[in-house]
Amino acid sequence: MIERIIPLIYIGAAGSFILALKWLSAIPTARRGVIVGAAGMALAVIGTLLKPEIESYRWIAVAFVAGTAIGIPMAMMPMTAVPQRTALSHAFGALAAALVGTAEYYLRAPAIGRFTMAALALEVLLGFLTFTASLMAFGKLQEILPQRPITFRFQNSLNLSLLGLAAAAGATLVFRPETSWLFPVFGALALAFGVLLIIPIGGADMPTVISLLNSYAGLAAAAMGFVLDNQLLIIAGALDGSSGLILSVIMCRAMNRSFTNVLFGAFGQIQAAGGTGQERRAVRSASPEDAAGILLAAERVIVVPGYGMAVAQAQHKVRELYDALTKAGVDVKFAIHPVAGRMPGHMNVLLAEADIPYDRLVEMEEVNSDFPQAGAALVIGANDVTNPAARHDRNSPIYGMPILDVDKARTVLVIKRSMNPGFAGIDNELYYSDRTLMVFGDAKTVVGNIVRELAGGRDTV
Ligand code: TAP
Repeated sequence: MIERIIPLIYIGAAGSFILALKWLSAIPTARRGVIVGAAGMALAVIGTLLKPEIESYRWIAVAFVAGTAIGIPMAMMPMTAVPQRTALSHAFGALAAALVGTAEYYLRAPAIGRFTMAALALEVLLGFLTFTASLMAFGKLQEILPQRPITFRFQNSLNLSLLGLAAAAGATLVFRPETSWLFPVFGALALAFGVLLIIPIGGADMPTVISLLNSYAGLAAAAMGFVLDNQLLIIAGALDGSSGLILSVIMCRAMNRSFTNVLFGAFGQIQAAGGTGQERRAVRSASPEDAAGILLAAERVIVVPGYGMAVAQAQHKVRELYDALTKAGVDVKFAIHPVAGRMPGHMNVLLAEADIPYDRLVEMEEVNSDFPQAGAALVIGANDVTNPAARHDRNSPIYGMPILDVDKARTVLVIKRSMNPGFAGIDNELYYSDRTLMVFGDAKTVVGNIVRELAGGRDTV
């Protein structure tokens, strides 16, 4: 009886995962997606716990308590720490896959079929390398490890050789599973490769790397499904693997960079301020009071949030600004660049946290045609995603990256603390345009001051 119910439970879980992915891809349905995904996981766990081959629940209960004790504090991590939290959960998922593979090898070898051994080798290779790589990614994002790329001579050759050795060890185990002394060497090579893979990648590229690691962890889980003959693991792993890969491709496209450039380009080393010497050119600056006047007169304002808004945690002040301008009859929209900030959906998450209505958030492709009609564009801590050099300067490292056409607005107000560059380490020619006014200062403080000016202005009317 139970054997017949478990596949039905698994089908319910797989369906929930597919619906969760669909709903997670749009802001209005994202919450529903999270709930359905969690419900699907609960079904998957219940279905597995009902399996008749389980002899005792004692150790499962211990693991359940330990997992809950780790999971609850992880869920409490602040919104801004989502990338590193994701890296940690991949590390745990990948470690679980690698340990299950290791246990299965010692339980079954040498009487193990070639196909199962090949799946097991893939599971252990991806599991162990994703474990150390994800821990390294966590360390870089949490600033426990140096953020800058660490490079040395022949690094790529060393990494490829190590991966080649691990693959050769895995292949030997597939054909000669009785070579049990090789198994720990195989695991150690995979662990070492994970560390070396991440060392040359800059901290700011970690979100792209994390979604790639997400797909490795998913593939490890799918391989584990073949080893354990568990269809749900195969489905969930394949969904996880493909969605992680798709997300990495989307991020690379939006930055106009290739996978190879992210993984082997050591991007972030050129983070020198104003490398072109343009910092000595004159810029025009304005006070929060001037900015308030310009925004009130603009009628149509497009706010362009970026990484600096996240650093300053200015989203709630931005909400107050939105309220004040809307009350004064100004039409306010938010332009969302796909890689603004440091993680996918970074700006959406922050603006949603401040309860800014979803319909005011407009994606890049749609909002770009609105800039010429905007009385003012208000750039809050965004830099690279507004740099017109991406459109015409073939020598620029961001050439070809789609940008927000902020420079086409009648007036551009830019809030940032200094003339320092952003992630790409290059100067932004937008700042030297006749239409641009720089409002220097921390985003939270400056936006707060503009709101005060707007309130004061209304009081005096
Ligand atoms: P950036 O180009 O990195 O610029 C952020 C700006 O914020 C800096 O110029 C900085 O100038 C300013 N800032 C920092 N702290 C601030 C504060 N407290 N108050 C006010 N301003 C502050 O950001 P962006 O325009 O959002 O572009 C994102 C970049 O990250 C792109 O190059 C993208 O390719 C890259 N990237 C994105 C992702 C994802 S998935 N989003 C992943 C990897 C890489 P000051 O220091 O002068 O204040």
